[in-house]
Amino acid sequence: MFTVAVIGCGRIARNAHFPALTKLDGVRIKYACDLVREKAEAIKKDFEGIENVITDYRVALADPEVDAVWVLTPNYVHYTVTMDALRAGKHVFCEKPITVSYALSCEMAKEAEKQGKMLNIGVCNRYHKSVEIIHDKIANGDFGKIYHVHISFRSFRSIPGLGGAFTTKEQSGGGVLIDWGVHFLDLALYALGGAKLRNVTCDAYSEMAKDMKSYRYKDMWAEDTADIENGTNDVDDFVTGYVRTDKASISFTGAWAQNIDIGEMYIDFLGDKGGARLKYGGHFTEWSAETLEGVTEDYEIPNMYLCEDRAFIESVKTGVKDKNNIENILESAKLLDTLYRSSDEKREISFE
Ligand SMILES: NC(=O)c1ccc[n+]([C@@H]2O[C@H](COP(=O)([O-])OP(=O)(O)OC[C@H]3O[C@@H](n4cnc5c(N)ncnc54)[C@H](O)[C@@H]3O)[C@@H](O)[C@H]2O)c1
Repeated sequence: MFTVAVIGCGRIARNAHFPALTKLDGVRIKYACDLVREKAEAIKKDFEGIENVITDYRVALADPEVDAVWVLTPNYVHYTVTMDALRAGKHVFCEKPITVSYALSCEMAKEAEKQGKMLNIGVCNRYHKSVEIIHDKIANGDFGKIYHVHISFRSFRSIPGLGGAFTTKEQSGGGVLIDWGVHFLDLALYALGGAKLRNVTCDAYSEMAKDMKSYRYKDMWAEDTADIENGTNDVDDFVTGYVRTDKASISFTGAWAQNIDIGEMYIDFLGDKGGARLKYGGHFTEWSAETLEGVTEDYEIPNMYLCEDRAFIESVKTGVKDKNNIENILESAKLLDTLYRSSDEKREISFE
């Protein structure tokens, strides 16, 4: 049996990882842990096979039966829990983003190496079927030379949990760029075949809820964490930037909130022999320069959370680092950090 503890029983735990872990053969969930006992109790009631509810994660770390822990807490908690778990000799699956800064992300990678433990990060799109296909098509040269990637992740007035952890930079590391952008930009660097950064420029804005009490919205996801009366909103709700890599250039625009009620969630890969538009989370359409036709293939999209959890367990068992190992995600963490720095300092930042 592969024995695990899940730390943090919020949305991603309930919607993604408990459904995945309870489906995987040979996985024993010994602990569900949350600071708020009722949340962990509710998980134990709703999912089969969870043995214990705890509120102090150190109980699970002290248990020699526990092989690995899932860290599914808010971003700023990732660092402490992951470092404690690695030092206690546990393998760790930690949700994205790695943590609130690149410097701390590097420390986490170093600690995993020092302890000889696997540390994977939940950039789940690397396990999305469409991303895997596009990655392989690019590697095979199906689109010719990919010269540019254009990304849009924009939504209408949907800042999450206004005033709470999501909009408090100290706790989240940033707004829409780190929360949504991490998926899109990591996916682009990965699909390009592990692109290395050359230079970046970025502008991040916080315009829509400067006065939190008068902010109007259609959708506030994570509303249970909001604190509009007394909380903080010091993160970006709109971001745009340009990235040069050794493989292709990347332009992007992202909005948690904007005054245009047209949602856009896509990534365009532009090659000299063909191109593809990936509908985020779905299928992609590709165009060939020869046929001038657009084709959208139909294929089954397996659950990416199940795939990433299974792959993590497999990598612990085999000792072979997986594509979601922290070592392979640090470039994306560096990118996010540098984009924020570029915006703060209002200049382009070069790595060369
Ligand atoms: N991969 C994805 O697509 C995806 C989607 C959503 C969220 N996430 C990430 O997952 C993480 C959690 O997000 P969420 O939306 O589930 O948040 P959430 O607020 O719903 O849940 C977090 C839970 O962690 C608990 N917690 C905080 N500190 C703790 C501690 N020290 N010990 C035990 N429990 C603690 C909180 O009480 C809360 O129940 C974030 O890092 C987020 O970026 C990833």
